[in-house]
Amino acid sequence: MRTFKIVVLLALVVMLLSACAAPTPTPAPKPTEAPKPTTAPAQPTAAPKPTDAPKPTEAPKPTVAPTKAAEPTKAPEPTKAAAPTSAPAAGGTLKIAILAPLSGPVPTFGVMTRDGALLAIEEWNAKGGVNGMKIQAVVEDSQCTPDPAVNAANKVIDQDKVKFIIGEVCSKASIPVSEIANAKKIIQISPTSTNTDVTVGKDGKAKDYIFRACFIDPFQGQVGAKFATENLKAKTAFIMLDQANDYVKGLAEEFEKAFVKSGGKVVGKENYTAKDTDFSAILAKVAAAKPDVIYLPDYYNIVNLAAKQAKEKGITAPFLGGDGWDSSDLDLKAADGGFFTNHYSPDSTAPEAVAFLKNFGAKYKDAKGNAAVPDALAALAYDATNLMLTAIKDAGSDDTTKVKPALEKISFQGVSGKITFDALHNPVKSATILQVKGGKVSFAAQVAP
Ligand code: PHE
Repeated sequence: MRTFKIVVLLALVVMLLSACAAPTPTPAPKPTEAPKPTTAPAQPTAAPKPTDAPKPTEAPKPTVAPTKAAEPTKAPEPTKAAAPTSAPAAGGTLKIAILAPLSGPVPTFGVMTRDGALLAIEEWNAKGGVNGMKIQAVVEDSQCTPDPAVNAANKVIDQDKVKFIIGEVCSKASIPVSEIANAKKIIQISPTSTNTDVTVGKDGKAKDYIFRACFIDPFQGQVGAKFATENLKAKTAFIMLDQANDYVKGLAEEFEKAFVKSGGKVVGKENYTAKDTDFSAILAKVAAAKPDVIYLPDYYNIVNLAAKQAKEKGITAPFLGGDGWDSSDLDLKAADGGFFTNHYSPDSTAPEAVAFLKNFGAKYKDAKGNAAVPDALAALAYDATNLMLTAIKDAGSDDTTKVKPALEKISFQGVSGKITFDALHNPVKSATILQVKGGKVSFAAQVAP
């Protein structure tokens, strides 16, 4: 049985080989810490490039409406863990775990993350792997939830002997995984977890072996607040939040701080839980408070419910949110008129992004058989995997004590922008603001750190 599994695995690995190039890094300076957004629409290195100075509230370029990801909710079967082996020797196999929420509340996050990471691995293998080793993915469904994520992390580390983890997506799952990974000297790069606690310990210092490929919520919250005050001309905001979700809570706090600092007033702040499906009590308070904007920094599943009910109540103030809105399952009708901060737009004209869009669409198809359109999760999982493999190559070793310093000094041109790490293992990158309008998600503005 085991032999059979290994044979199947080998066959899968071989199948993963196909033509494509992995990006090579160029040296560049170290960035600073705690990014602060500068003036609104600016031109970043490798992010959506609207022609000239973009007019924030109008969509310069229509996007392709997000399409469904291939195999949306099914648990993955690709390249599952092989028999435990010791550290792969030259000419052997290098395993990379992908912890992705393939089931649970936000399955599009998992599918896109897995597919972005697998594309990067396929491209590296097509070029001969890394340091003479073939790369093997170990995909686990971590469900955007602490316990399943911790179990998945323990499984890949203890059973599969994986030393490199891409994941989790959700901050509340990445934080407990980071404690385990760091203690065991396993390198973890979360592609998308934006809460500060993912890479930073209680002592305020960076966790040695933990990195991320995305910007952090203090920046994302500031960008949202800046957009609300400067572009939407909002003077008042109503904040809706789930206190039990590290990401939502953190982002809501950062937005509030920045919004108040820029002269805005928070006219209401109400909590709900992840299990809630009826938001009418909170929305009645929103209707009474008449805010200029409603800040709802949660994942798409919650946004779909709350925004729909708000429309039914006749509430016309725009919803504003964060990267958690990015999904092919975002209800574009319910969220119409809304905006969200994000890491990437498929509209990007940066060469890395154009190549990625093409290669992703060639490999994956949507439900209708058309080229799948990657979202920020796919782009960041692709970048995180390329970052990991580039650092392993730079270190000339899969010894994590050598890969850690290689990552710390990396300068990497990714699909989501240029990545260099600050002292807290956070990239300093631009944010994109996307608008939901007329059944489409389109580019609205770019904000540099
Ligand atoms: N930033 C979110 C979190 O930390 C995850 C996320 C990123 C979701 C990007 C969607 C897109 O939980």
